[in-house]
Amino acid sequence: MSLLIREVPATDIPMELLLLADPSETRVRTYLSVSRCFVASSGGTVVGACVVQPRGTDAHELMAIAVHPAHQQSGYGLRLLKWVIEFFRNAGARQLEVGTGTFGYQLAFYQRHGFRVTSIDHDFFLKNYPEPIFEDGIQIFDMLRLTLRY
Ligand SMILES: CC(C)(COP(=O)(O)OP(=O)(O)OC[C@H]1O[C@@H](n2cnc3c(N)ncnc32)[C@H](O)[C@@H]1OP(=O)(O)O)[C@@H](O)C(=O)NCCC(=O)NCCS
Repeated sequence: MSLLIREVPATDIPMELLLLADPSETRVRTYLSVSRCFVASSGGTVVGACVVQPRGTDAHELMAIAVHPAHQQSGYGLRLLKWVIEFFRNAGARQLEVGTGTFGYQLAFYQRHGFRVTSIDHDFFLKNYPEPIFEDGIQIFDMLRLTLRY
């Protein structure tokens, strides 16, 4: 299925999609207004979204990437990630960072496309979220920080 990916104003990005990647709406709202937002549509329906925040002159951080549950595991997330990597490469970025949990399929998702682990933020999810966060029934405490160097 064809996928149209485009940059949109922060007001046009569906919050329910971003909450799949970052469960705190308060946190999402703090970075949304200072980030660049992208949506992926298939057949006129928004199926995925991603938010990227500038970090200095030539670095950026992928703050959230998500595909609607009804459309997951159809290759859209991968296409959106690759598109965003190329978008910032063409914009002259030297690196793209992302923070994620210490286990789960998301780790392979990023590392398969060139992201390498650069540090661990211990207790990040404990300190920054009001509710415990679970993945596969296991509570996530620490954030792994990964970096793609262009
Ligand atoms: C992460 C996410 C954006 C991936 O998008 P997607 O469209 O489902 O992924 P794709 O179909 O492009 O698949 C990409 C890879 O992830 C794997 N994958 C995706 N969902 C998976 C799942 N639930 N379980 C195991 N593997 C999964 C695919 O098998 C594929 O692996 P491969 O490259 O080895 O073939 C999507 O699953 C999502 O929105 N998850 C919830 C939000 C989230 O966790 N965001 C990331 C925050 S760090």
